[in-house]
Amino acid sequence: MGHLQDLSTGLSIPFGWYAVAYSKDLQQKDVQAVNFFGQELVLFRTESGKAKLMEPYCPHLGAHLGHGGKVKGESIACPFHAWEIDGTGSVTNIPYAKNMPKRATEGPCLHAFPIQEMNQMVWAWYHPNKAAPSFDIIEVPEFSDPNWSELDTYEWEINTCLQESGENAVDIAHFVYVHGAADMPRAEVILNGAHRSTDMVTRTPRIDEEGNIDMTEMEDMHLVTQNFGPGMALQVFARAFKTVMMASMVPITADRIKLRFAFTKPKDISEQFNMFTDVLIEEIVRQVGHDIPIWENKIYRDNPILCDGDGPIAKYRKWFKQFYAEEGEGDTTGRPSLRAIN
Ligand code: FES
Ligand SMILES: [Fe+2]
Repeated sequence: MGHLQDLSTGLSIPFGWYAVAYSKDLQQKDVQAVNFFGQELVLFRTESGKAKLMEPYCPHLGAHLGHGGKVKGESIACPFHAWEIDGTGSVTNIPYAKNMPKRATEGPCLHAFPIQEMNQMVWAWYHPNKAAPSFDIIEVPEFSDPNWSELDTYEWEINTCLQESGENAVDIAHFVYVHGAADMPRAEVILNGAHRSTDMVTRTPRIDEEGNIDMTEMEDMHLVTQNFGPGMALQVFARAFKTVMMASMVPITADRIKLRFAFTKPKDISEQFNMFTDVLIEEIVRQVGHDIPIWENKIYRDNPILCDGDGPIAKYRKWFKQFYAEEGEGDTTGRPSLRAIN
């Protein structure tokens, strides 16, 4: 019998905006117990339609609001003694108390995560010290355009961390050895605060506007991936491939992630382009399957030996470091410091 290896990376959970649900999966008055950022949470949608994510344990006697809590207006009523708590974590009503206890009126009793709803997903801002959001994610116009298709979605839960899975995009050698690419792509990385853009160039057969492929002539194909912090990536495909892909990554724990891909296509493309695009989507999804066993069984090397063909791995790691909070950064009073921003 082999030893169970400790595959923990020792990396903590980076701060950032993380997609916690597809909007359509959280209907008005829905209440869900969810698990992200290494903690139990309650996710709900108020009667006016606002998505909320909070610490789940009632400030009264600690019942889990996600197990039997009910939405009442803009608040959630606890399943144990029906105290009502709103989406900022403040107690709004105790149905059987003559007076509100002082501690319940001094401000939020539970941490509420800042929320943004965009690109058909609910995004929560996680920071280990509950500091306020320090960067933005972006709205993808195709995701709200009626001329673009409903989302085609895929998801995985993987025993790895965000830094390790994200490193894939800049690890150019693995495209040949894991994914069977013909040549090593060239990759250029541009870093700008929380934003990162990776331009990967591969040689592919020429293709014209009608989608005809000319195998005798090769040309550069650029694939630009944009990252907005550790939790969101965007790829806009071109030429034969008429799709926009949004990837969202959310830490379940420090060493386990949920990875989601959502694709949309223009509704009015030719059969030919539709077919090319579907083949591409299938291939992208298939390639994740190649990466998973590597990620799940590898260890994290903090100080790896790198070679000159490895591409911008070191640069990527330096960029990623900014999302690990310093101890004491932000509010460390232990008292919830934020009100949800919607
Ligand atoms: S534990 Fe929630 S109301 Fe009592
Ligand atoms: Fe990969």
